[in-house]
Amino acid sequence: MIVPVLLQALLGFGKGARSEPPFNNPPGVDVWCGKAYRETNASFDPGGWLNAPNATNELKLDLRIAPRYNLYLGSQRNASFIVDTPVSYTRGLSYKNQTFDDDSPSTKKPFTELIIQVRNLQTNAVLVDWARIPVNASGIEIEFDLSSMKPSLAHPWTVLIIGNSPDAIQTYTATTTVTVLPERNDTGSVARIDRLYRGIEAKSSLTKNNWKPIFPYSFYTSWDWISSTLNNASATKNLTTFRASGYNLIHPVPPGGSDPFNHTLLEQFLTICDALELYVMYDMRHTYQNTTSITRQLSALQPHPSLLLYYTADEPDGWTDPLNATRLSYTHIRSLDPYHPVSLVLNCANFHFAEYSSGADILLEDTYPIAVNTSVSAVYHTACNATYGDCGCDNCHAHDAAYPAYVHNPFLDIVERVDSLYRLQEWTGRAHLCGKPVWGVPQAFWDAGSFWGRWPSAQEEAVMGVLRVNHGGLGIVAWMYPTSAEIEGVTAGLARVVAGERVVKFLLGARRVALRTVGGEGLLDAAAWVRGGRVLVSVVFQGYGDLGGEVEVRLPVSVDGVEVLWGEGGGWGIGLDGKSLKKEGVKGLEVAILEGRVVG
Ligand SMILES: *[C@@H]1O[C@H](CO)[C@@H](O)[C@H](O)[C@H]1NC(C)=O
Ligand SMILES: *[C@@H]1O[C@H](CO)[C@@H](O)[C@H](O)[C@H]1NC(C)=O
Ligand SMILES: *[C@@H]1O[C@H](CO)[C@@H](O)[C@H](O)[C@H]1NC(C)=O
Ligand SMILES: *[C@@H]1O[C@H](CO)[C@@H](O)[C@H](O)[C@H]1NC(C)=O
Ligand SMILES: *[C@@H]1O[C@H](CO)[C@@H](O)[C@H](O)[C@H]1NC(C)=O
Ligand SMILES: *[C@@H]1O[C@H](CO)[C@@H](O)[C@H](O)[C@H]1NC(C)=O
Ligand SMILES: *[C@@H]1O[C@H](CO)[C@@H](O)[C@H](O)[C@H]1NC(C)=O
Ligand SMILES: *[C@@H]1O[C@H](CO)[C@@H](O)[C@H](O)[C@H]1NC(C)=O
Ligand SMILES: *[C@@H]1O[C@H](CO)[C@@H](O)[C@H](O)[C@H]1NC(C)=O
Ligand SMILES: *[C@@H]1O[C@H](CO)[C@@H](O)[C@H](O)[C@H]1NC(C)=O
Ligand SMILES: *[C@@H]1O[C@H](CO)[C@@H](O)[C@H](O)[C@H]1NC(C)=O
Ligand SMILES: *[C@@H]1O[C@H](CO)[C@@H](O)[C@H](O)[C@H]1NC(C)=O
Repeated sequence: MIVPVLLQALLGFGKGARSEPPFNNPPGVDVWCGKAYRETNASFDPGGWLNAPNATNELKLDLRIAPRYNLYLGSQRNASFIVDTPVSYTRGLSYKNQTFDDDSPSTKKPFTELIIQVRNLQTNAVLVDWARIPVNASGIEIEFDLSSMKPSLAHPWTVLIIGNSPDAIQTYTATTTVTVLPERNDTGSVARIDRLYRGIEAKSSLTKNNWKPIFPYSFYTSWDWISSTLNNASATKNLTTFRASGYNLIHPVPPGGSDPFNHTLLEQFLTICDALELYVMYDMRHTYQNTTSITRQLSALQPHPSLLLYYTADEPDGWTDPLNATRLSYTHIRSLDPYHPVSLVLNCANFHFAEYSSGADILLEDTYPIAVNTSVSAVYHTACNATYGDCGCDNCHAHDAAYPAYVHNPFLDIVERVDSLYRLQEWTGRAHLCGKPVWGVPQAFWDAGSFWGRWPSAQEEAVMGVLRVNHGGLGIVAWMYPTSAEIEGVTAGLARVVAGERVVKFLLGARRVALRTVGGEGLLDAAAWVRGGRVLVSVVFQGYGDLGGEVEVRLPVSVDGVEVLWGEGGGWGIGLDGKSLKKEGVKGLEVAILEGRVVG
């Protein structure tokens, strides 16, 4: 996060002091996201920009497959694959919308179904035997039996999918791996990622050994704060009150050094987290490139069921860490502990994305657009643009007169960044289906003398959190706790709702549908999740001022009533056809989370 940047700003020493020469910057030129940012240095093209793949002039079908979960356990017999069959001009093998009918072989018809077989390449066992799936579809789930795949720590199983047109003239293939691990033989947890809905799930004694979907809603948390509350009878807030507020995860920010935490206090902290079912996101920002240190740290964590996932690099793209660093770290962690996902946060808009993102299962973004000057650096006093400057929010445009859309909607940088992290994964061409889950880091801090002019307000905080959820954020971990009383109040309330069972059932158990909105000067953002005859609708108004006039959110289903789970929400009525929510006027930065009953 921003702490190191601030230190530099305050203490006046530079990133150029670091030993490894980063990239293509001239010696002595400090860079952030690859860009020179000091007044004394000139702008140059930082490179590392990932572009959309070029369109070709023929249609292509890109057959893709992945197991639904990134890992299975030996005790499980049922599993499924998720298959995508997108047709586009960019990726895959040539596709002609024509096949001979398999029933009457002289008749041509459109090629709308693929006939697929999936088998284990190591054993040749057939896992899916010639099933039919639609062409140009995504998220097709196909069950298979895991019995033929023995659990192994040594290797995953490699499977091959073959997809044929009905006349078998057009053929597509893809491979993936299936990881089947032995059950743990200690008290530690197992956490996995659901590639269909992108949620994280954990299984341990804390969940009575059932898989429990978890939507983290919480904070990076100061270790000073945590350690000062341990064994401290005069602390009015501590881990117990933190958990009771509604936060279901904690992300301790390690102090520096290659052995960052006091072992006694860390053990005590973890034991309390176990007792509170407070999930731990274990941060190795200072040590992730030191394999010896990682090995030591991981061994102390293993018995604790509250361990949910690891976090390695903190803004490696900003710091210009070596391009292979996150991947090397990932491989090392995997070799020690294949049972927990690895995450990292990217700070730059688009800087060597493929390399840095390859070292994680979950990607976070920390876009801080509140009270920041995105065109002139408040700290370094230079212009900020695509090749120069550090304004605290890379390539952001909030309030920049040169970008009217971002003046109209200063939250657009967040929307754009979350969408972009999914889009960039698609562009790398090695995205598994819909890609790695993206979690958000809302701005929830203020430091005098930094890029940011004030604390975010409670309303801004709610908008920043829920907007990310609307755009596919699968976890919220704000920077940082302790925070302002106002932010603590609103985030605790949101955590209870968003991370609560009722909402999680939708967020991690149904497809997200972006909704069309009408009115509200184009500042209404809405999404829905439909499951089991119910629908969850989340609406965010990104305008600061109250607005009159009717606003409308178009729903994917008809409803006959809605209940407010969060927000004033008052006034939402149902349109005549049942397929929309309407109200008269919206309040500045209004957020509503509603649940309705589906009819028809
Ligand atoms: C960059 O700026 C630093 C000091 O801020 C200066 O020492 C160095 O000579 C500059 N380098 C170039 C190539 O301009
Ligand atoms: C797209 O084509 C242009 C022009 O040929 C080329 O410069 C660019 O590198 C291509 N982009 C990608 C992502 O391959
Ligand atoms: C496994 O799949 C079979 C066949 O689809 C089904 O009958 C059975 O209930 C499933 N078992 C579990 C534990 O889900
Ligand atoms: C193939 O052609 C059929 C019939 O015209 C059409 O419905 C379908 O969308 C086409 N599929 C693709 C992927 O172009
Ligand atoms: C494939 O599906 C996408 C999204 O559903 C659609 O936008 C696109 O037009 C389809 N492509 C073809 C070739 O039919
Ligand atoms: C527990 O599992 C680990 C592998 O995760 C293995 O190395 C170890 O020998 C097992 N211990 C026992 C007591 O079975
Ligand atoms: C105990 O908590 C109080 C109140 O937060 C704090 O002022 C004090 O420094 C803490 N003591 C220690 C030893 O951390
Ligand atoms: C937090 O404080 C409360 C009230 O003093 C106390 O009962 C509880 O044990 C404390 N929890 C921790 C984790 O120290
Ligand atoms: C760790 O913390 C404990 C409790 O505050 C303290 O007694 C001990 O000296 C610390 N250990 C180290 C190595 O600093
Ligand atoms: C790596 O970590 C180990 C164990 O904490 C430590 O002894 C060593 O000095 C560290 N190496 C570096 C380069 O920091
Ligand atoms: C990682 O990249 C660095 C250059 O940044 C290189 O020196 C090192 O050899 C690479 N390590 C491996 C294992 O490839
Ligand atoms: C960014 O700003 C610098 C300094 O004003 C200027 O030299 C450079 O041309 C600008 N780059 C772009 C892409 O506009």
